[in-house]
Amino acid sequence: MVKHSVIVAPSLLAADFAHLADEVAAIEHAGADWLHLDVMDGHFVPNISFGPVILKALRPLTKLPFDVHLMIAPADPYLAAFAEAGADHILIHPEAGPHPHRSLQHIRALGKKAGLVLNPGTPLAHAETMLDLVDIILVMSVNPGFGGQSFIDSQIPRIAALRRMIDASGCDIRLEVDGGIDPRTAPLCIAAGADSFVAGTAVFGAPDYAAAISAIRGKPAVHEPAA
Ligand code: DX5
Ligand code: ZN
Repeated sequence: MVKHSVIVAPSLLAADFAHLADEVAAIEHAGADWLHLDVMDGHFVPNISFGPVILKALRPLTKLPFDVHLMIAPADPYLAAFAEAGADHILIHPEAGPHPHRSLQHIRALGKKAGLVLNPGTPLAHAETMLDLVDIILVMSVNPGFGGQSFIDSQIPRIAALRRMIDASGCDIRLEVDGGIDPRTAPLCIAAGADSFVAGTAVFGAPDYAAAISAIRGKPAVHEPAA
């Protein structure tokens, strides 16, 4: 069994879009591990966000790995564009096209980490059949499309089942959770076997980003000494 440290990936969707450069700098300074980027097309999900041009603009501003969650269908024609724009991880939904296996192969061939995203109603079998091709499994604990929704408790036993599946496989796969993550829900997911968290509202909506990130990790905030 591969034991991972807890990762926190703030979701840019909840940031102040008029000051994205400042928000990215602040979140990096606050101790974020990855930056989660929610790409929405108004077709696969009922909301529109941003595309590769925003990744490209932000890429030189931070060393944080870009965890790119594609809520677009089809995704295949855009994988190379997101890779070129600076994505480090590219995560697809199996419902986004008829050949998710090929999409994951394509992401790996682009030299990026591949992720599979499971909606609250997506059977876990989708992950089971493609474990050898994924670096990250992302469990949606809300229906995708919007930040600020309530955590769906029924995802906890699914996280536990995925943990058993990953451990049995021996594959080195991160188990990430996205939607309604805060200091109350993250520990429930950690207990079930999750090791990585997307958090939008709970981080960007907090007055102290560092404290919010630490609270999701389940650790007291580490504040820099006053000058
Ligand atoms: C929802 C997105 C999430 C969202 C999370 O479709 O995938 O990443 O930004 O937002 P919160 O943490 O506010 O639920
Ligand atoms: Zn997301």
